[in-house]
Amino acid sequence: MSSDPITSASLVRMKKKGERIVCLTCYDAAFCRVLEAAGVDVLLVGDSLGMVLQGQATTVPVNLEHMVYHTRCVSNVRERALLIADMPFLSYATPQRAFSAAERLMGEGGAAMVKLEGGAAVVETVRALTRFGAPVCAHLGLLPQSVHQLGGYRYQGKDDASSAAIRADALSLQDAGASMLVLECVPQQLASDLSVELEIPVIGIGAGNRCNGQVLVLHDLLGLTPGRRPRFSHNFMDGSSSIAEAIVAYVTAVRSGKFPGPEHTLF
Ligand code: KIV
Repeated sequence: MSSDPITSASLVRMKKKGERIVCLTCYDAAFCRVLEAAGVDVLLVGDSLGMVLQGQATTVPVNLEHMVYHTRCVSNVRERALLIADMPFLSYATPQRAFSAAERLMGEGGAAMVKLEGGAAVVETVRALTRFGAPVCAHLGLLPQSVHQLGGYRYQGKDDASSAAIRADALSLQDAGASMLVLECVPQQLASDLSVELEIPVIGIGAGNRCNGQVLVLHDLLGLTPGRRPRFSHNFMDGSSSIAEAIVAYVTAVRSGKFPGPEHTLF
C-alpha cells in the first residue's frame, strides 16, 4: 500500500482501476489511528456523531461547533486518508452560509472536503464552493437531515420517477463540480448504473456492492448501536477479537467485494 496521501484524484484513479474505496466515519484521534492503520482510504466526520456520540434521536441538532471540534480531533493525527467533514443541518442553506461553514470546517477543522445533502436545491451552492477551492462530496438518496420532512428513514428511488430524479441530481452535482457522491439507501441497480455513468467516485451505504466504494457508521460496524442495526450494516466484531481486527475485516471485505453481501442488500 502506498503511503502517499489520498486525494480526490487518487480516488478517481482507484475508480478507474476498479479498486474499491473504503470509507468509514471517524470522530476522534484514537479511532483515526486505528482506521488509518487498517488502511481506510476516506475518513468521514459524519453528523451521525449526533446520534452515536451525543445520543440524539436525529442528526438535526448537530451544529457547526460540534463538527469543527470533532474534525479537528481527527485531523490532529490523520496522516494519509482523505478527511471529509459533514456540513450540519441548514449550515449550507445559502451559498453565504456554506462559505462560512466550509471556511471553519476546512480552516479550523482541517478537513480536505466538505459533504452536504441534497440535489437540485444545493447545486448552485456546490458550484460556488468548488469555484472557490472547497471540494465537495454530494449526498443523495436517503437524506438523514431531512428526516422530519421525509417522515422516517426510508429507501429512496424505488420507483421510476424518483430514480430518474436521483440520476438527474447526480449528473447536475457532478457538473457543478462535486468530487464524490455518497448514495444512501437506494436500489442496487440505480447505484450500480450511476457508479458506471459518473466520472466521480460513488460511495454506497445501503446501495448494494456495485458502487465504487462503501461507507458505514463506525459504531454500527462495532456493534455499539443500541436497538436494531440497519439491515444494510454488519457487526464486524462478530468473529473479531479486537476493534482493530474488526476494522481490518471491514476493509478486507469491502476491497474484495464481499461486503455488502446479498443479506445486506434490500432492493
Ligand atoms: O453522517 C454520516 O455518518 C453519513 C454517512 C451515513 C454517510 O453521512
